[in-house]
Amino acid sequence: MNAAIRAVVRSACAKNIEVTGIVRGYEGLVNGTVIPLTHRSVSGIINLGGTILKTARSGVFRTEAGQQKALRTIRDNRLEGLIVIGGNGSLSGAHLLSSRYGVPIVGIAATIDNDVNGVDMTLGADTAVNVALDALDKIRDTATSLERVFVVEVMGRDFGWIALEVALAGGCEEVLIPEKSYDITGICEDITESNIKGKLSWIIIVAEGKADARDVAGKITDMTGLETRVTVLGHLQRGGRPTRMDRILGALLGNEAVEKMSRGETGVYLGLKDNKMFSYPLAEAVNPKHIDVDKLYKLVKIFT
Ligand code: F6P
Repeated sequence: MNAAIRAVVRSACAKNIEVTGIVRGYEGLVNGTVIPLTHRSVSGIINLGGTILKTARSGVFRTEAGQQKALRTIRDNRLEGLIVIGGNGSLSGAHLLSSRYGVPIVGIAATIDNDVNGVDMTLGADTAVNVALDALDKIRDTATSLERVFVVEVMGRDFGWIALEVALAGGCEEVLIPEKSYDITGICEDITESNIKGKLSWIIIVAEGKADARDVAGKITDMTGLETRVTVLGHLQRGGRPTRMDRILGALLGNEAVEKMSRGETGVYLGLKDNKMFSYPLAEAVNPKHIDVDKLYKLVKIFT
């Protein structure tokens, strides 16, 4: 997100447009917590995870009273438009502000879950998968040395994208994702059969939206008699140095958001589709994204 914030600020400065940062997202918009952002305020942030503007899950913004306060902040600070960087929740809020109250908004699709409708790669998703992969490679050291079954739970909310990417790129034996049903008895039979043939370690990725890693591990121990361990990667996946891809993506999206805003092309959100920048009406952000998981899922199975 910092790469996008930097790109927005510097692109706007280049056009002599003043930028105000809203601290803690919609929570800050409701409470009037804003700061001026200058060319210098975004120095040295391109390599930082998280967001210098902080973020929050705002309950109050969902209320009519909260929305009225948000509109007052926009008026009081003479904000002529908002650039909203976030996932489904943030973009739905942007749609509401835009459609109900006429606030000029350009959204940037940013979430580790990669679950924004119409967008192939959301900002932050590449970094999250790489951070998870790095952790997984380290877990594998113990899995192979101590000859164990590891069940590793990854984030992604109700979407299996992170799990699938991590499983394929990490060379994992099995992946459980919301988009596919699974048969724990069959998985345990496969483990037992490969164990008889000499295989001694396994890594099974579980998407948080599909199952609880501890339940899965318990069943595997019961059915196979093998020693099983659980790692829940959790919020680790939301931090760390942004990858080259996310830095470039942040630069492109942030710059395009300012271009669109200054041309008055608002009520849209931006994202990458087929390696090109696309904009969609904000109304489309509230629809679910569907991905075709079959190809990658099949490869995980073939490579087991
Ligand atoms: O949407 C991003 C995400 O990291 C999900 O993958 C995860 O389920 C959720 O946010 C965690 O939210 P919180 O930090 O509020 O528990």
